[in-house]
Amino acid sequence: MMHFDPSKIEVLYSEKDLERIVERLASEINAYYTPITDEITAVCILKGSVHFYSDLLKRINLKVRYNFVHVSSYSGSSTTGRIRVKTWVDESVTDKYVLLVEDIVDTGGTLRYIINYIWKQKPAGVKLVSLFEKTIHEHGVKIDFTGDRIGDLFVVGYGLDFDEVYRNLPYVGYLKSDL
Ligand code: PRP
Ligand code: MN
Ligand code: MG
Repeated sequence: MMHFDPSKIEVLYSEKDLERIVERLASEINAYYTPITDEITAVCILKGSVHFYSDLLKRINLKVRYNFVHVSSYSGSSTTGRIRVKTWVDESVTDKYVLLVEDIVDTGGTLRYIINYIWKQKPAGVKLVSLFEKTIHEHGVKIDFTGDRIGDLFVVGYGLDFDEVYRNLPYVGYLKSDL
């Protein structure tokens, strides 16, 4: 069982660092959508995106419809390869400008799965924003707005967990003992 022990976390992104990244992403997203639409549907990919979604959308200057999906596939620090869907969007995204909001893209399996289903509803467009992106995506997912690229480290905090622990840290870091 994983215990909560923040002294084991090496900080990689402070609260201030995260705020700067979120601000930059919000201005890129505002600049992209403003000429084409006054409304977007933002989909939060729970649970990891909870804090990022909330902080990002507070800085979007458009009408934003909120939507939530809850999917997961990780156990400890490795993917099970199986996507479990616990909650799905509760309103149609047909003809909507959909922004999928993810905390981290690793293999891309989670986003690939969601994108395939979202496109079936014939949205007006789909864009992807991810706070973090690892370098290799086996599933050919292209992120439109990336906060930062990170190496092959398992990071926690600001929504990201290790077996459901550490989501509530206001910063992002890695477990020292895990190296
Ligand atoms: C994590 C993370 C992303 C996904 C990224 O979710 O939040 O959603 O894995 O990995 P991938 O690109 O290899 O699919 P997780 O399955 O841990 O669920 P959680 O968000 O509820 O923690
Ligand atoms: Mn997730
Ligand atoms: Mg997780």
